[in-house]
Amino acid sequence: WPFHAPYVKAINDLKKARNAVILAHNYQTPEIYHCVSDYIGDSLQLAKLASQSDADVIVQGGVYFMAETSKILNPEKTVLIPDAKAGCSLAASITAADIRALRREYPGVPIVAYVNTSAEVKAEVDICCTSSNAVKVVESLGVDRVIMVPDRFLAQNVAAQTKVKVIAWHGACEVHELFTAEEILGFKADHPGLKVIAHPECPREVVEVSDFSGSTAAMIDYVRNTKPARVMLVTECSMADNIAAETTGTQFVRPCNFCPHMKLITLPKILDALLQIREEVIVDPATAARAKRSVQRMIDLG
Ligand code: 13P
Ligand code: SF4
Repeated sequence: WPFHAPYVKAINDLKKARNAVILAHNYQTPEIYHCVSDYIGDSLQLAKLASQSDADVIVQGGVYFMAETSKILNPEKTVLIPDAKAGCSLAASITAADIRALRREYPGVPIVAYVNTSAEVKAEVDICCTSSNAVKVVESLGVDRVIMVPDRFLAQNVAAQTKVKVIAWHGACEVHELFTAEEILGFKADHPGLKVIAHPECPREVVEVSDFSGSTAAMIDYVRNTKPARVMLVTECSMADNIAAETTGTQFVRPCNFCPHMKLITLPKILDALLQIREEVIVDPATAARAKRSVQRMIDLG
């Protein structure tokens, strides 16, 4: 990537000068993921890494809710998001007022929030979860009914793996909701031996026709460990680019769908963030303290 080289050098030099680290989600483009990030991972891994970092500055290669989670876990650090417009259709689908209304409608029923939510929503719920620990979180509550917000597909996919009754909110990921079972079966017919692995934000019928489902990190581990001859990652496009760069002998069958929010993060914007110390993520301290309880309760489950 010769075009990227000057940015990569400038960012890596500036990171040292600022005592900064870059946390990059698995959906970041290869030049961010492979060339400037200090830590890479799925949402759970990034949340844990954020809480362990001893840098003064965290630059979030990811979307706004991820940067907010880093700030919630590190109130004393400067957390930067290279583009504050990097949102998420799931986080946008529910508000703190919606959670309070759910409490009134279902008194006593614990509420589990996917980390793809705002700090205000995290502050109102009982515990957070990510796609890699959702079943464990739901079962840890020791009840026969939970409310899961905001992703209805994640809720359906969790419900299929537990006896706990799951009441779902109606949100969906604008990237994963586009996949259909018909499309997956078509790819399987066209590519004999194809292993299909799907993110649990996909509709239930897509997961049902897949060979494996897991968080972005679990999907990467599946490819690394099983080394399939042909694989299709039913998720955001950059995942396949990032793993293909380190994998030989596996053919990656596309297509995939782009997350327009993740793609707002670019090398020039990361450089600008480090140069100008912007956009700084600010979370009201009282909200952050309440939200931290929900995030930390999840992390403490191990
Ligand atoms: P993971 O926690 O699996 O990385 O998922 C985050 C996300 O936003 C997927 O769309
Ligand atoms: Fe949100 Fe979907 Fe983008 Fe993930 S891929 S950040 S869930 S819109």
